[in-house]
Amino acid sequence: MVENSRILVIGATGHVGGQVAAQLIAHPVTVRALARDPRTAALPTGVEVVPGDLTAPDTLHYALDGVDTVFLTWPMLSEEIADAVIAQIAEQARRIVLLSSAAVDDAVAVQTNPIGAVHAAIERPILESGLEWTFLRPHGFATNTIEWAPQIRAGDLVRGAYGAATVALLHEADIAAVAVRALTTDGHAGARYELTSSAALPRTEQVAAIGAALGRTLTWVEIDLEQAIAEMTWLPPETARVVLTGLAGYVDTPCTTTTTIQEVTGGPARSYHQWAVDHVADFS
Ligand SMILES: NC(=O)c1ccc[n+]([C@@H]2O[C@H](COP(=O)([O-])OP(=O)(O)OC[C@H]3O[C@@H](n4cnc5c(N)ncnc54)[C@H](OP(=O)(O)O)[C@@H]3O)[C@@H](O)[C@H]2O)c1
Repeated sequence: MVENSRILVIGATGHVGGQVAAQLIAHPVTVRALARDPRTAALPTGVEVVPGDLTAPDTLHYALDGVDTVFLTWPMLSEEIADAVIAQIAEQARRIVLLSSAAVDDAVAVQTNPIGAVHAAIERPILESGLEWTFLRPHGFATNTIEWAPQIRAGDLVRGAYGAATVALLHEADIAAVAVRALTTDGHAGARYELTSSAALPRTEQVAAIGAALGRTLTWVEIDLEQAIAEMTWLPPETARVVLTGLAGYVDTPCTTTTTIQEVTGGPARSYHQWAVDHVADFS
């Protein structure tokens, strides 16, 4: 256990960062959270909230004062900003845990997946910074399925593409639990942790699991790729296409699962069914 550490959580109002901040409270460390708008940031008692914005890296200076360790959520900003943000962090801190992505492919010199490219662009300056680093490389988050909430509030049908795609979506509390180990204990420097849940479930059964948690019967309605892209209005069409075509690969072959969460935290990864129970309020 690394005691008396001062940890800055960047992305603490988000799904994973929020869990990181909440779980860190139980540890003998000081927890500070960066927020673009501290007035609206609802964070646990004991978390110091400081203003700052990653798109204006100079604003991080105050937040980083006295900080030795950083948890960084990367909201997919430009390579130029990535360089400036890591330069600021490396001036103060000695350890960083990055919420990266399994889309990063170490086997290629130039990333072909655009999501992999954005995350490789933040990993690179970290590798060059001299910081002690740990990269979390998760596959899909269960929180992505909150996108179904408007349909579920409106009725019992959920429209989407590739209902048979079988993926092991992650509970944000498990990603955070791995992060907290890497933030507060030694032995994680230089690790690239590829994370999935322990069991893969077709999207049709994910919808059924939300229904079971709500005490309702929900039914999947299959639509084609172009229609699904058009209906994913919260994402740029090119991003929606990357996400959906990624799922297409898991229609005939379920995703491979990793055991990293069990190995790092000592406990099993939470199931999608558990996630649905924990998130009933998001669908009600
Ligand atoms: N979804 C997936 O399936 C998936 C898979 C692999 C990796 N990832 C990675 O996980 C990340 C998302 O994690 P999440 O779901 O926990 O995030 P989230 O819930 O979407 O929250 C994003 C967080 O980033 C903060 N943020 C956004 N722009 C910022 C800025 N300019 N300056 C400072 N903070 C800023 C937000 O703060 P505000 O309150 O100020 O908005 C919020 O706290 C993605 O960016 C990606 O890197 C996601």
